[in-house]
Amino acid sequence: MSGDPNGRRKEEIARMFDSIVERYEFLNHLFSFNRDRVWRKETVKLAFGRVLDIACGSGEMVELLLRNPAVEYVVGLDLSWQMLDYARRNRLFPRSAYVMGDGENLPFADESFDSITVAFGIRNFPDKLRSLREMHRVMRKGGRVLIVDMVGAEGLFRPLYDFYKGWVMPFVARFFTPSWEAYRYLSRSIDAFPPRGEFLAMMREAGFESVWYRDFTLGAATLFFGEKV
Ligand SMILES: C[S@@+](CC[C@H](N)C(=O)[O-])C[C@H]1O[C@@H](n2cnc3c(N)ncnc32)[C@H](O)[C@@H]1O
Repeated sequence: MSGDPNGRRKEEIARMFDSIVERYEFLNHLFSFNRDRVWRKETVKLAFGRVLDIACGSGEMVELLLRNPAVEYVVGLDLSWQMLDYARRNRLFPRSAYVMGDGENLPFADESFDSITVAFGIRNFPDKLRSLREMHRVMRKGGRVLIVDMVGAEGLFRPLYDFYKGWVMPFVARFFTPSWEAYRYLSRSIDAFPPRGEFLAMMREAGFESVWYRDFTLGAATLFFGEKV
């Protein structure tokens, strides 16, 4: 993985997530005022069949997906060994499995899944188009991709949101984790995300159709949807 700059960046990202695993969920719920639970539930409702959850982290989405009766089974994939270890210890249920792997090079055969979810993960992928192409490859015809992430607020709410993620979050994180720098990275990764319309164009370029997005909580998070026809 370390031969190219993207590979090195991914190793650093994996190490960073390794370092925050124990406090990760608590801080997510704290910083989103628990709204992330609602955003996740809205996303999970749209999944069906055999599901791949990319960047599964501690497995919160895997657990929610399994509660949806339309879901057959869920495979969680992540780059961070510590996150996967946490998920396996806390969220290994019947009809679920965890795999270590890279969201830009999916270790699955073509047309293996009906739905693909990525919650708060794609922001970290250096080559988002490549990852979307991989999702399209491993998805069956009639399948759907559901990507939910924090991609930056728009309009009047934006200055407040920028202050919150750029200053309040890293400051508060100091009290809970020695790896509070990770929360500065979070802010930068949100800033680096392409505008919503551009990301939809990227989804189309990767082969997805009927693409749309929906903002949650004044744009604090956004759900992107696409189908493979
Ligand atoms: C913010 S966490 C989100 C975790 C989980 N999906 C959730 O909803 O809480 C981002 C996750 O993406 C993973 N990740 C980052 N880059 C990745 C990549 N290239 N391939 C797979 N996972 C990656 C990290 O290890 C981390 O667990």
